[in-house]
Amino acid sequence: MMSRLTDRIVVIGASGQLGSDLMRVFADLPAAGVDHASVDIEQPSAIAGMLSDFEPTLVVNTAAYHNVERCELHPERAFAVNTVAVENLAAQCGDAGSALLHVSTDYVFNGRTTSPYTEDAAPDPLNLYGISKFAGELALRHRLERNFIVRTSGLYGVRGSSTKGHTFIERMLSQAAEGRAIRVVNDTTCSPSYTLHVARAIRAIAESEAFGTYHVTNSGHCSWYEFASEIFAQARITPELLSVNSDAFPSPVRRPRFSALRGAALARIGLPPLPDWRDGIADYLAERVTR
Ligand SMILES: NC(=O)c1ccc[n+]([C@@H]2O[C@H](COP(=O)([O-])OP(=O)(O)OC[C@H]3O[C@@H](n4cnc5c(N)ncnc54)[C@H](OP(=O)(O)O)[C@@H]3O)[C@@H](O)[C@H]2O)c1
Repeated sequence: MMSRLTDRIVVIGASGQLGSDLMRVFADLPAAGVDHASVDIEQPSAIAGMLSDFEPTLVVNTAAYHNVERCELHPERAFAVNTVAVENLAAQCGDAGSALLHVSTDYVFNGRTTSPYTEDAAPDPLNLYGISKFAGELALRHRLERNFIVRTSGLYGVRGSSTKGHTFIERMLSQAAEGRAIRVVNDTTCSPSYTLHVARAIRAIAESEAFGTYHVTNSGHCSWYEFASEIFAQARITPELLSVNSDAFPSPVRRPRFSALRGAALARIGLPPLPDWRDGIADYLAERVTR
């Protein structure tokens, strides 16, 4: 029988918000998940052990050092996890005959645009998180031909992120429950994405076996203020929601003002766009109440 890329999958960062949804989406496939405690990608020997234990046809890397403020304060940590470890992982995957699907970010772009970035747009990151992730992409392509790079944006999942704590949606709902006025920025736009939808698209990309770079987000884009308004509309609650400029939240970190992504590469291989960002919220809210 012909072997396929999805014959034996290992997901790194399997207890994270995207990683845990990937494990759900891969449930009917021979897929193993490893968490940070069992495989630290900064340790070359841990990667070697994982590759020899599982002999994966495909490794999916969701692990990252992605707290943007912390990356700025600890660039050595950002580069260790987002660049050096990815380079090593790619090199070892190459030696072991495994392909690698690596998750990257909209923050590789500078945001000085008004229309969504497609995969052929030139990266120009504004902060050390984006720089270290873009360097990781370059190192990966340099080391390993059989690669997928999946850039996504504004992730939220039922699992939540251990680094960032609550998802944006949970933060909005809990602030509303406290009854206080909520200020949300209106001048920063992205394509917020539900991790279960992203995970399904990642599976379809892996199954296509068409290596390359993909933008994978819920369709369309919105400002964080529009995102918050839609969350409250769907949750049928009416807190006091104030639209503010990002000057209201001074930060030492520069962020792209417009980092919406569009999946032109998905269309090229015949895959449908992901559901609209509003449907991402709807599916997330529905799943959240049934848990
Ligand atoms: N979150 C977003 O809004 C967003 C937007 C665009 C792109 N992305 C990218 O999407 C990917 C997944 O993000 P996510 O939100 O799902 O993150 P997450 O929930 O924080 O999951 C990442 C997982 O990786 C693990 N990890 C961290 N460092 C590791 C290491 N050195 N070795 C092994 N595992 C390690 C973490 O474990 P511990 O928590 O135990 O350390 C965590 O379980 C990342 O590559 C990120 O750059 C995220």
